[in-house]
Amino acid sequence: MQKLTELSSWKALEAHFEQIKDVHMRDLFEQDASQSESRFKKFSTQMDDILLDFSKNRINDETFRLLCDLAKEADVEQWRDQMYSGEPINISEFRPVLHTALRNRSNSPVYVDGENVMPKINRVLAQIRYFTERVRGGHLRGYSGHLITDVVNIGIGGSDLGPHVVCDSMKPYAQRGMNVHFVSNVDPTHLTEILKSVKPESTLFIISSKTFTTQETMLNAHSARQWFVELTGNEKAVARHFVAVTVNKKSATEFGILEENMFEFWDWVGGRYSLWSAIGLPIALYLGMDHFEELLDGAHAMDMHFKSAPIEKNMPVILALLGIWYNNFFDAQSHAVMAYNQYLRRLPAYLQQLDMESNGKTINREGERVDYLTGPIIWGETGSNCQHAFFQLFHQGTKPVPVDFLIPAQSKNPLGEQHCVLLSNYFAQTRALMRGKTEAEARAELEEAGYAADMIEEVLPHKIFEGNKPTNSILFKNLDPRTLGALLAMYEHKVFVQGVIWNINSFDQWGVEYGKQLASEIQQELAAREQTSSYDDSTNELINYCMSLKFSD
Ligand code: F6P
Repeated sequence: MQKLTELSSWKALEAHFEQIKDVHMRDLFEQDASQSESRFKKFSTQMDDILLDFSKNRINDETFRLLCDLAKEADVEQWRDQMYSGEPINISEFRPVLHTALRNRSNSPVYVDGENVMPKINRVLAQIRYFTERVRGGHLRGYSGHLITDVVNIGIGGSDLGPHVVCDSMKPYAQRGMNVHFVSNVDPTHLTEILKSVKPESTLFIISSKTFTTQETMLNAHSARQWFVELTGNEKAVARHFVAVTVNKKSATEFGILEENMFEFWDWVGGRYSLWSAIGLPIALYLGMDHFEELLDGAHAMDMHFKSAPIEKNMPVILALLGIWYNNFFDAQSHAVMAYNQYLRRLPAYLQQLDMESNGKTINREGERVDYLTGPIIWGETGSNCQHAFFQLFHQGTKPVPVDFLIPAQSKNPLGEQHCVLLSNYFAQTRALMRGKTEAEARAELEEAGYAADMIEEVLPHKIFEGNKPTNSILFKNLDPRTLGALLAMYEHKVFVQGVIWNINSFDQWGVEYGKQLASEIQQELAAREQTSSYDDSTNELINYCMSLKFSD
């Protein structure tokens, strides 16, 4: 592939950036007000009831045209089609990338090595339905006849974050009397605190691990098993209370899990893209299979939109292009996501893995070091909490931070005028960030507030807001399973498009493997409890100091 920075659209964007970099969005809005097509009309798009308004960005018609040219020149559409059709686009692990097949509700064939994978996807979905309906209906009970009231998912990374964000966000759809807990951290406190709140006879443990070798998950799984056997005195009952979601059936069998309690998925499903597979088992247990399928339906609808909408109206593509505009031209180091919805409080954690594990890369697909910025730092918080924590930096700080603002029009818990106030804050923030406050406006406000003339001169500089801060507004009717599925798929595809344009492989995570490798070496040294001199001076001294503090096992 031609080098990104040598593409003609890239060069044109560089030249265009020089012209537009100091233009204020206030002026862009004013200019567009006199055009036949309004700025909002030009710079918004919709999929089902999800509206993306991207008009509050530092773009004009020319910017948008050039960004769309970039997507075309970088072959985004061809890469997308290769992904959907099962080509091995994960080039460092020699695999296809087929999370879209997991939610292919049209059931049209999808081939991997000449085999249509839809029948096996459907078989696992049917297995999940059968199992979850029996548990939820009280037909499949604990070893002593108790109803299962608690599901503990033991997994980390993609085997935790996806199902976790969905279960948290979809709480209003949960079955009464069914609780779900997520244990991920190898810090023993995580498991210990959760075990304090459940009883073995009414708890179902899901060991969720694609590889069934991840150290954190395996340690937590063995500790949970030990706790279970100690409390029940019934080793045989493990088979009734532990199920596995994995591609590694052999290791799951060795753990003591029955074949019928194993839920399979495949190596062409990446960990961080796996919530749509059997990794979604806790979702189906907590919310019911019908709701899990609605989630898949929503994701599939977004897949269809991504596949067929023209680039100029394609939501994930537009989000990706705008992200590149700020990342690579304005040098924005991070991208923030503010969901004005308390149920979505885990969304940033989920997006951090999705985006940063995918696009935190410096080597391109040809194995060379890139000479441009790739994936940004992703972070976020719920609104309106975020306004009272770090929004000051957005409004008056020196760092550019593009922000996505998400909100449902309807609340699941209407309470007086509270949702209306939340909405007002949502609209106010993006407008304030776009417009800022000029010196004249700030002065007029101070005068109206009755400030003395000398006081005005003193405080005036502090009351001015530069504005021109870019935001995307994502507004939808309701946070239901279908919409959530579509939103998560939207972000997946955004990350994909950016990876294609940056010419990196978004589907491996060798960086994470390196840390794991070193940890296991150090663990052996720690277990020996002897002073070390094997590492650099800093690491040696830290380990030796820790020894002197008599660390716990
Ligand atoms: O963090 C690295 C990683 O490999 C993730 O990509 C993955 O989601 C997670 O570990 C868990 O892996 P597994 O499901 O195999 O336990």
